[in-house]
Amino acid sequence: MHDFSFKRGKLYCENVSVASLVKQHGSPLFIYSHATLTRNFQQLDEALAPLDHTVCFAAKANSNLGVLRTLANAGSGFDLVSGGELQRIIAAGGDPAKCIFAGVGKTEEEIELALKKGIYAFNAESEPELIRINKVARRLKKKAPIAVRVNPNVDAKTHAKITTGTYENKFGIAFEEVEEIYERASKLKNLHIRGLQMHIGSQLTEVGPFEKAVKKVVPLAKRLAEKHGIEFFSIGGGLGIVYDPALESGEAKWWRSPKRKNLLTPAKYAAKLIPLLKPLGLKVLIEPGRFIAGNCGILVTRVEYVKQTGVKNFVIVDAAMNDLARPALYDSYHQIVPLAQNPGDHLKKNQISSDVVGPICESGDYFCKNRMLPAVGEGDHLALLSAGAYGFVMASNYNTRAFPAEILVKGNRAEVVRKRQSLKQLWASESVPKWLK
Ligand code: LLP
Repeated sequence: MHDFSFKRGKLYCENVSVASLVKQHGSPLFIYSHATLTRNFQQLDEALAPLDHTVCFAAKANSNLGVLRTLANAGSGFDLVSGGELQRIIAAGGDPAKCIFAGVGKTEEEIELALKKGIYAFNAESEPELIRINKVARRLKKKAPIAVRVNPNVDAKTHAKITTGTYENKFGIAFEEVEEIYERASKLKNLHIRGLQMHIGSQLTEVGPFEKAVKKVVPLAKRLAEKHGIEFFSIGGGLGIVYDPALESGEAKWWRSPKRKNLLTPAKYAAKLIPLLKPLGLKVLIEPGRFIAGNCGILVTRVEYVKQTGVKNFVIVDAAMNDLARPALYDSYHQIVPLAQNPGDHLKKNQISSDVVGPICESGDYFCKNRMLPAVGEGDHLALLSAGAYGFVMASNYNTRAFPAEILVKGNRAEVVRKRQSLKQLWASESVPKWLK
């Protein structure tokens, strides 16, 4: 459930008309709902209430300060993957003591920063990393809290580019080797062994793979608790969302099409996992990104031209793969709706098979192909739904296109939480060498 809905034929975010925001702030425009963000967080948090747990929002999914502050206020911890994300979380009012630091390539500077800020744990992904964390901690005369990321070798059954929990992937330490690593880590004097972590992939639409991985890893966590006194087990993120509720498009389906009956609700997730985790007696962490932020955001774009070629109806819009890279990168599906609805829009006879494409000079720059959409014309606006996770954060300046603005809506209030980038900013830190005439 989200807070974008049609009222008297006009798309609203909570109580604010999307068209009024576009009129004021231009397009392309990302718009986020405070209510959706908070509700998604609370749903998960409440579902896990029987466990001693912390929900650590994966900041990589959406690291806008307004979004992070919303979640910090709701009581969220954070999963981060860079020194930059840690600084952002602190700037947004997040508590470092509720932060875990993941990623295969932490630099010395990042480790030092995280130690000084007092994060809850590093999720280490290799033995050389543990040695480096120990070294930096010794230099700072500190004990670094660590967990090791176990790779359970369980297939998440999701898109290849976001599967992380098999031995084909670069992530974590093989299940069979983990105990020896803890043994050796326990000899490193500046490490405090605090937990165990795993994450098998993203956009999982069924609970089965989570269950399989947790079942496999719980006995290991138990042994590590007995031997090394670990206090937490992080089961990662990965809860999927429904991108395509209608499942009606003619285009190739993205990954495993989320079927409504398989919709992975917090209740289903909790019902399967709590009985496995509760007897462990450890604190449980989860690291959801997409589940919390995905459907809280939309990307609004303006139709510039409609080009009919005889073969295709191209709807050329002012947003592009540099603003929302997911369709180009993963062939992902985003629902597309006009901001204004007409009564007959749902009828096939009023729809036209369309490719919604951006202005970038690449054939991969499309948002959908051969999708039945109501006919639109120049100056109309479209909203790409479920663009709140891995949307703006993956934007680039390709084709010297400025970053869009971001708006956070709460009730009938709307606030710019990121100004549209000015074109001059794009080359402000560049220069021409003096020796070039
Ligand atoms: N924890 C770790 C260690 C992760 O690597 C990730 C995501 C998460 C948690 C959060 O996963 P989530 O709950 O959001 O599925 N750009 C891709 C997704 C990349 C996910 C990377 N890791 C996309 O747009 O689909």
